[in-house]
Amino acid sequence: MAEQKKYRLRCTECGAVITDFKAWFEHGQSCPECHCKQAEIEYTADYAKLPELFKGKPESFWHYFDFLPLMDRENIVSCGEGAIPLERWEFLERFANDNGISDCKIYVYRNDLNGGTNTFKDIAASMAASIFKENGVKRYCIASTGNTATAYGKYLAMAGISAAIFMPDNAVPSSIAEIASYGQKVYHVSGDYSDAKAVAAAYAQKYGIPTSAGNIDPIRVESKRTMVFEWLRQLGTMPDVYVQAVSGGTGPLALDKAYRELEPHMPGLTYPRPILIQTDKCDPMVQGWEKAVKNGFPEGFEKDYPVIKNPQTMVSILGTGNPGTYPKIARIMKQRNGNFLRVKEDCLADVARIVAFERKTHVGPASAVCIAGLMKAVMQHEIKNGQTVLVNMGEGIKRAPWFLDMLGHHISEVRSVEECHVPELGETREELCKALDKNI
Ligand SMILES: Cc1ncc(COP(=O)(O)O)c(C=O)c1O
Ligand SMILES: [Zn+2]
Repeated sequence: MAEQKKYRLRCTECGAVITDFKAWFEHGQSCPECHCKQAEIEYTADYAKLPELFKGKPESFWHYFDFLPLMDRENIVSCGEGAIPLERWEFLERFANDNGISDCKIYVYRNDLNGGTNTFKDIAASMAASIFKENGVKRYCIASTGNTATAYGKYLAMAGISAAIFMPDNAVPSSIAEIASYGQKVYHVSGDYSDAKAVAAAYAQKYGIPTSAGNIDPIRVESKRTMVFEWLRQLGTMPDVYVQAVSGGTGPLALDKAYRELEPHMPGLTYPRPILIQTDKCDPMVQGWEKAVKNGFPEGFEKDYPVIKNPQTMVSILGTGNPGTYPKIARIMKQRNGNFLRVKEDCLADVARIVAFERKTHVGPASAVCIAGLMKAVMQHEIKNGQTVLVNMGEGIKRAPWFLDMLGHHISEVRSVEECHVPELGETREELCKALDKNI
């Protein structure tokens, strides 16, 4: 094949150019010069044409094909992911108003509406399967806490690619079953996510099978950055604030890549203030950040964060106790005046009840973390009057059916009609919010 001219990878460490993904895989997904595992993709497409695409109505993130590292549309493996309408959640705006913040607009980007497996991860899995198909990758392996595993399991199977998937002890059984049902091999590793990653890395080495480079993997970052295109398409401008539950940090890395890529072509483009959320049961980034704030961001602050071994969190998706990406993310957060917030796991069922009551929809636990974080940000006045907030929410309830069992309330055990009365419809938002207030 003649050398393609559409895109190239550039090593983030030494600046070396890697011509395409074929070469990237041939070099073991690392820079041929300095062996760095991180590369960013550059495109030859004309960015003046990007606003044209903002006028269209996407069926998937492949709408942005000219700005994605795939040569032939024939290789696209897709279930209609990454084309999600932003929803304005007015009950959250009222909550902000009740907390003294007026006129803010709160938009929710619901990744549970993605067509593949209803999470954040469908876009990356679609792009991975398509790139592997185009470049003749037949086998793959990956370690994941759950959502990446499920998405890659499905999309790679769609492309006829066999995957070995390594999941930690606390992976959700229904996710394991779902992946296996697509014909993929699951290795349930006794240990936490770090242990699963170690076994996957050894397996990749032993059998010479490519594996994911984790949160910095160019496939993951590059696909995910299209969410920013979508916000610009739908809002016409960047939001003022960006809220996300964070585990390994592909989201903030992708936001950063998109901004650096677009800003030279869109003068005046603003950077949303990032607010990243973890729970009290697995909060290494929050702890590292709080220490840095307390000490006035000393030299090397970004390297100082704890490792939480075997985090006892019920949100297994967010169970990255040893976030190797923290130094990169912490630097971005400092540069962009961001903040990390911690929420209590005890509040998650209440948050999900409020969402169910107000929106008649169920969020998964990692999404509840994100909404709880938004509420905390409101209560702490991290959000200002008149701002536009983008809440990037990860998953629906299908990914964690056990969480639905926790949402029941107002249930009475009875033996006869004498014990019943004629009810009103549920509790009010105010009552639910009050219960939450103390516990967030
Ligand atoms: C539902 C959900 N929310 C949040 C996250 C955190 O994403 P990130 O990779 O940006 O930390 C993930 C992925 O780990 C996820 O699946
Ligand atoms: Zn290099």
